[in-house]
Amino acid sequence: MKQRLDGLKLGSLVLDVPFFQASLSGYSDLSMRTLARRFGCPFALTDVMLAKSVTYPQVLAKACFQPGEDEHPVGAQILGNTPATMARAACDLVAAGYDAIDLNCACPAPKVLRRGRGGALLNHPDLVIDILKAVRDAVPCPVLMKLRIGMNHSPEAQDSFWEIVARSIENGVDALVIHGRTVSERFRGKADWDALAAVKARFPAATIVGSGDVFDPVAAVDLLKKTGLDGFVVARGAIGNPWIFRNLRCVWEGRPVPDPPDLAEQRLVMLEHLDHVLQGYPEKWGIGYFRKFMIYYVRRHPQRKQVVLTLIKAKTRAEVEAGINAWYGGEAWHE
Ligand SMILES: Cc1cc2nc3c(=O)[nH]c(=O)nc-3n(C[C@H](O)[C@H](O)[C@H](O)COP(=O)(O)O)c2cc1C
Repeated sequence: MKQRLDGLKLGSLVLDVPFFQASLSGYSDLSMRTLARRFGCPFALTDVMLAKSVTYPQVLAKACFQPGEDEHPVGAQILGNTPATMARAACDLVAAGYDAIDLNCACPAPKVLRRGRGGALLNHPDLVIDILKAVRDAVPCPVLMKLRIGMNHSPEAQDSFWEIVARSIENGVDALVIHGRTVSERFRGKADWDALAAVKARFPAATIVGSGDVFDPVAAVDLLKKTGLDGFVVARGAIGNPWIFRNLRCVWEGRPVPDPPDLAEQRLVMLEHLDHVLQGYPEKWGIGYFRKFMIYYVRRHPQRKQVVLTLIKAKTRAEVEAGINAWYGGEAWHE
């Protein structure tokens, strides 16, 4: 197939490449989004936010709910099942500076499903459409919707899924971001990109963005061309790996992919990430939070087991930095 060099249109938002960073609860905060952007990611979504919470001004005012100053375009993802509350949250988030709103109809966490939110909405097409219409009418920016390929594979669940896809397109959703697993499958098995291709085939004029198992840039771009989808999101593949966006750009633009980062570059990026985190959070909490990313960063290290064992014990900024310097050839190591 001919190399398409066009990007991705999410309503009025046009990206120069057909991929962006997914919403990742507990990870995709300002620090991860900023690094992704620096490595070439054109747009990123926040962690999911509970719509009800962000309608309280004192909650929305917290730094973790605010977009970064130079961070545009950035989208806010919201979770809820009351159209008026979702619309109010969307409005407040746009007023706070977000450039797009993404409606979460996909989360498989049991506590979310029990409250009838996230993936539970996939059983309720009328409610999903009421939410979409309320949000669509409330905000001028692009409205995206995150789905999975149904609650499960039963005929009823599949009918609901197709009804939601068809009616959300009719009602002006700007893009559907679809994870190629059902809610019941959670993260088991392989994402079903044939199912995503079937959505695009049935609704060729709609913007359909795929999600699932995007770890390898060459394979992801091949899959995009093979399925005819408009784009894809990078989720787990970007944790502790902002380089994936640089490499994806190279593959997409037909340029050679650079060598993997050496230890010196890994060290600088880890320290940059740590610094970002600690600008936003108190040291004790921030170190615990950064540990989740560190576990992914150290996967590239030839002595990853020993590195994890040392770094996991570090409790302060000084200890984490000293550990990184020791294992990645920083100044302390040369002294
Ligand atoms: C830790 C974690 C948190 C996630 N949080 C969200 C979220 O808040 N909102 C959302 O729409 N999807 C969320 N997802 C799903 C991802 O955006 C993505 O659709 C899914 O991981 C499949 O892509 P991957 O296989 O490339 O990781 C999360 C996934 C993981 C692993």
